[in-house]
Amino acid sequence: MKYEQHSSNWNERFKKNDVPWEDTGPWSGLVDVLKQYVEPGSTVLDTGCGFGVNTIEIAKHGYHTTGVDISQHAIKSAKERAHQQGVECCFEVSDFLNYSGVRRFDCVFDRGLLHTFCDQSGRKQFARKVASQLATNGVWINVSGNSDNPDDPADVKKHNYPRITATELVGIVEPLFEIKELRSCMYGSIQGLTDFRAWLGVFQKRD
Ligand SMILES: C[S@@+](CC[C@H](N)C(=O)[O-])C[C@H]1O[C@@H](n2cnc3c(N)ncnc32)[C@H](O)[C@@H]1O
Repeated sequence: MKYEQHSSNWNERFKKNDVPWEDTGPWSGLVDVLKQYVEPGSTVLDTGCGFGVNTIEIAKHGYHTTGVDISQHAIKSAKERAHQQGVECCFEVSDFLNYSGVRRFDCVFDRGLLHTFCDQSGRKQFARKVASQLATNGVWINVSGNSDNPDDPADVKKHNYPRITATELVGIVEPLFEIKELRSCMYGSIQGLTDFRAWLGVFQKRD
């Protein structure tokens, strides 16, 4: 089954550099939240990794890191970046919902992929997939657009801004995960592009 996402032409957008969601640096809360919940040396999957900026940062902090993205162009570029920086991490092209990696990860990091799914059925499928890729007691760290942004609702509709309510988020994750933390944060720092309000969620897979 195909679930509707905010964009369907990801690879084309990367090719044209039409990627307004890509920040210049790693997400500001990344290292603190990782260190709080996940032991260095653990395995981390960054799903929907784009140019791999966060994947590379995670690897730099002593985690065994894999980045997955549906866009070939993004993954090629991510591999080049890691190579240039002398950082070891693994990158794979895959539609995450069909990702067939046999490995179970200690942590899945997802900044901005869950929220590209337009409705609850796609988001719940995504959550099931995250759970299936996690080891026992594994942790999902999620950063998603927050519906408390002061957006004009007409703009949200017109531009497909990805926004999720706390109620929606809890409905997606609670059956499969214990909610360790859910709080408001900033998605990124580029003015007018990524400096919107987001949710940071830390969810631990239930037994
Ligand atoms: C909003 S961007 C977030 C990129 C990156 N995680 C970040 O923090 O900037 C969403 C990313 O998910 C990727 N993506 C979209 N649908 C996907 C899917 N079904 N499976 C894997 N990656 C997907 C896109 O190519 C894009 O890189």
